Amino acid sequence: MPPAARPGLEDMIVGDAPVMSALRRLVRQVAPSDASVLLTGPSGCGKEVLARAIHSQSKRAGKPFVAVNCGAIPRDLLESVLFGHEKGSFTGAHAQHKGRFEEAQGGTLFLDEIGDMPAEMQVKLLRVLEERAVQRVGGRGQIRVDVRIVAATHRDIDAAIDTGAFREDLFYRLAVFPLDIPGLAERIEDLPLLVGHFLARQPGRQSVRFSPDAFARMAEHGWPGNVRELRNFVDRANVLFAGRTIGADEAGALLMRRGRVSAVETRALWAATELQVADTAVEPAADVVVPLRTRSPSAPPPQMAGGEPVALKEMLAEIERRYIEQALTVSGGVIADAARMLSLQRTTLIEKMRKYEMKAA
Ligand SMILES: Nc1ncnc2c1ncn2[C@@H]1O[C@H](COP(=O)(O)OP(=O)(O)O)[C@@H](O)[C@H]1O
Ligand SMILES: [Mg+2]
Repeated sequence: MPPAARPGLEDMIVGDAPVMSALRRLVRQVAPSDASVLLTGPSGCGKEVLARAIHSQSKRAGKPFVAVNCGAIPRDLLESVLFGHEKGSFTGAHAQHKGRFEEAQGGTLFLDEIGDMPAEMQVKLLRVLEERAVQRVGGRGQIRVDVRIVAATHRDIDAAIDTGAFREDLFYRLAVFPLDIPGLAERIEDLPLLVGHFLARQPGRQSVRFSPDAFARMAEHGWPGNVRELRNFVDRANVLFAGRTIGADEAGALLMRRGRVSAVETRALWAATELQVADTAVEPAADVVVPLRTRSPSAPPPQMAGGEPVALKEMLAEIERRYIEQALTVSGGVIADAARMLSLQRTTLIEKMRKYEMKAA
């Protein structure tokens, strides 16, 4: 039988920001080895996506990929979940149970939120990784396990090591190959590709379209929930505006704050929906991503008035360039301050300034 076609890495790890291309390249290099990988980055930035991509590009692709969220499992159950237990080993252990390590035999074990692992489990995990064997709770014999470990954390693991909350020896065992994924705001030029990716998941029905104004509004958003927040945003837009083109106002109403949605936001959202419905009833949305009429207070770029196409990426880059310029002016050219203002890492800002050939002052 010919080997099954592997999905391309570009389809799995979407994004053409330089950092995403670099990550894809690293994934390709690291995947074939059995080296442990530690993925760091804020919540929703794609750590699990990368873990799955590494598995899919490895020689273990035909074997299981097993994910465990170490932060979500009660601490007194974690050992049995990971290593399994024998019947009667503790109250409630009615039957023998295989642990996740055994389930992942021959494949990849993804230890998510490893930074939340209690200290006593860190010791046990380290021993298992060193001995390549597990002992079930209440069991005597050692069971050999052949698994590749990919771990992830959204926490500042360096700080956790400094305070003693995370074992340094375990860190070095896990982070043979550390990969850091930046938040969405640090690669905002990926918005169009990611939006397209999420829309393509719902084939067979007319999906929502985003006007350049809507994209501009979205590019200004900080995306604290990163790509996960964007996916939810696109899903919400698609439910409310299927088959229609939305502008900056609708996008703004859809960009709810994290946490509970306030009554004001709900009203704004419904108001936006009604406006849009009334609009399209009069004039059906065109098949291009161009607003027929914009209600946005920010004027569209001049070339849009004539219904001409707009190069979205260039436009977003232009917005980015302008914000950086402004931040540098306000900060008096102090890069660290400008970076803080833009919620960027200093190195990211420097990289972007180089891209736009800008000087600090
Ligand atoms: N680069 C990417 N390309 C495509 N989808 C992505 C990308 N990054 C994240 N996602 C999607 O965003 C959501 C959150 O990603 P996930 O990997 O679970 O984040 P994390 O593990 O860092 O919290 C998932 O639905 C995932 O498919
Ligand atoms: Mg996750």
